Amino acid sequence: MVDIRVCKSEDIAERGRRVVQIGAFEVGIFNLRGRFFAYENVCPHFSGPACQGVLAPLFAEGVCEDRTSLGRVFDPGGRMNIVCPWHGYEFDIETGAHPTDNRMRLKPVPVSVRDGDIYLSVPDRRI
Ligand code: FES
Repeated sequence: MVDIRVCKSEDIAERGRRVVQIGAFEVGIFNLRGRFFAYENVCPHFSGPACQGVLAPLFAEGVCEDRTSLGRVFDPGGRMNIVCPWHGYEFDIETGAHPTDNRMRLKPVPVSVRDGDIYLSVPDRRI
């Protein structure tokens, strides 16, 4: 694995993203509440550019104490999904997982921040 510096952490705004090309390897990097997540820009459905899709708040089913439904509400934890632009499959930014199908998951890329710079760890055979 090789660590590649891609940008300053401040270059990716809160709830923002940057898609970078490293050789033949395209990676989406996301900032969610100051934490960075990175995935290969390949949707597990039909290989669409999932990381370039809309970022949407995660919805949850709200339930009152008396167990009546509040309907769909924004996730209280502020989680966000990436919506693949090709067919609309959604993936949790923090895990890369599809909300209901465990077989559908974005492939994570190790990301770290050192001295204000963001690094991706990529296999040296891919660059
Ligand atoms: S290729 Fe991403 S949803 Fe189909």
